[in-house]
Amino acid sequence: MDDAEVEIGPVNLAARVDEALAVQAVAFGLDAGEVAVRRHIVLRHLLSPGARAYGATTPDGRLVGFVYGMPNDRTHWWSTVVETYLRATGTADWLDDSFVITELHVHPDFQGRGVGRALITTITDTADEKRSILSAIDTDSPARGLYRSLGYVDLARQVHFPSAPRPYAVMGAPLPLKRRN
Ligand SMILES: CC(C)(COP(=O)(O)OP(=O)(O)OC[C@H]1O[C@@H](n2cnc3c(N)ncnc32)[C@H](O)[C@@H]1OP(=O)(O)O)[C@@H](O)C(=O)NCCC(=O)NCCS
Repeated sequence: MDDAEVEIGPVNLAARVDEALAVQAVAFGLDAGEVAVRRHIVLRHLLSPGARAYGATTPDGRLVGFVYGMPNDRTHWWSTVVETYLRATGTADWLDDSFVITELHVHPDFQGRGVGRALITTITDTADEKRSILSAIDTDSPARGLYRSLGYVDLARQVHFPSAPRPYAVMGAPLPLKRRN
């Protein structure tokens, strides 16, 4: 990572959920109502077996980025939604032995310095699973560029989650993630 001032390490995300959601709100765009809904979801996710989180912290202790994920569980809501789409593209086996990246966000003031790349490679390096899956809004975004550069490919596109206004792409990559040469 380029930015020596930001440290990447495990973070107690349940204890720092409000800080994390404040980062997500500005990075991804969430209003107060969406933050309140996400708060319950994040706290529930963190109780799942194997769930873990990493944070990016400044020397004065400010959380400026975070990632969390867990081994995929086919009974989880996210997995049940994407399964239909992955079946249609013949890629549903990606739901087994796979580590899911649930959220990855970096505060805009700290984007473009390698923080997001460091967070996702650090968390996936701790996974025992042979691959990783995630969903990202189906558009040409910095997130999609980052995921592609790490080896993620599209498993399904135009995936509609109930209540989400925009379609997502589901992406998968073998682990360990590809490094830059
Ligand atoms: C996606 C996100 C986490 C990336 O974090 P970041 O710290 O800015 O990313 P990095 O500095 O590690 O950049 C890594 C790669 O992302 C891509 N990227 C970053 N900024 C980009 C931009 N403006 N345009 C295109 N690609 C970009 C590049 O592939 C870059 O690779 P490089 O380092 O070889 O140039 C961050 O942009 C973010 O929080 N976005 C808003 C929230 C979001 O969309 N989260 C993902 C939800 S699925």
